[in-house]
Amino acid sequence: MKKRLLTGLQASGQLHIGNYFGALKPFVDTYEEYDSFLMVADYHALTSIKDAKTLSGNILEAVRVYLAIGVDPERATLFKQSDVPEHMELGWIFNCLVSVPFLQQAHAYKDKVAKGLEANAGLFTYPMLMAADILLYDAEVVPVGEDQRQHIEYAREAGGKFNRAFETEEFRAPQELILKGVGTVPGVNGEKMSKSYGNTIPLFATKDAIAKAVMSIVTDSSGDTPKNVYAIHSLYRNEDELTKLYEENKGNYKALKESLVEDIEAHIAPMREKYQNISDEEILSVLKNGAEKARTVASKKMETVRKKVGVALY
Ligand code: TYM
Repeated sequence: MKKRLLTGLQASGQLHIGNYFGALKPFVDTYEEYDSFLMVADYHALTSIKDAKTLSGNILEAVRVYLAIGVDPERATLFKQSDVPEHMELGWIFNCLVSVPFLQQAHAYKDKVAKGLEANAGLFTYPMLMAADILLYDAEVVPVGEDQRQHIEYAREAGGKFNRAFETEEFRAPQELILKGVGTVPGVNGEKMSKSYGNTIPLFATKDAIAKAVMSIVTDSSGDTPKNVYAIHSLYRNEDELTKLYEENKGNYKALKESLVEDIEAHIAPMREKYQNISDEEILSVLKNGAEKARTVASKKMETVRKKVGVALY
């Protein structure tokens, strides 16, 4: 029996190379060793997107990216969260088990409050829906970037609270899988690459758009090696190659950035071609099949969970 793996990404818009190296590539490299579930977290995206057309488009985009980077939908269950209402149901049960101060410690919520922005209740309870995403499938392995570490801890905690409250061993503890060196991919300003920070290099952009983003990488003039350029470059080339390249182009930031553009382009071009040839029909059919498979697992689990909490009377 293969171990079960589950991961997901929010349907929140254009994906960037941080998503790719932090989560998508590690998934593609290992998913066949596991019984893998790959989810588009569309209800999570609703915490920030309030436009139907945008959200629908983002869901298609996320699946198109999964397929373009090489996920075979015959070998992984690829589905969207909203097609499996059991996620919301289990999320609710977890909400009833955890305290408000516990959820107030969540980074995403704290960041929003620190910026003086109003957090909606969906954002506040986000970690419990994510716990449900993982625990519904008894997933043991969850490949993610470093920024999701706390969310996996929350999932373990939610499962533990359920087990203690209902004196059961219903939920097993999931483990995050965070790869060294790509746990936090930096953006063009050196901070974590994130759509909400506006510092991304888009994954499937045109060469011109990639070049524009790379040329905007912030360089400091304190040394010969522009460290922000180097950090991103090291995702594409090994240390020996980079040492030579950066030695030969000492202080020539423009040449180094141009070389980085070429490396990104060479890497992305074949995937981009595939990406452009995936039809909406193909995506919809993948999602429908995936929904059926995911629901089979999730509904079975929820039947037991409902019995354990005492609401299943017939
Ligand atoms: P999301 O959509 O923000 O990001 C998707 C994945 O990309 C990783 N990532 C990064 N990794 C390295 N460097 C970066 N700069 C970078 N930016 C993003 C994220 O860590 C993530 O792995 N809450 C999740 C989605 C989710 C989920 C789940 C994940 C919902 N349910 C269940 C796993 C299991 C999120 O917002 O990821």
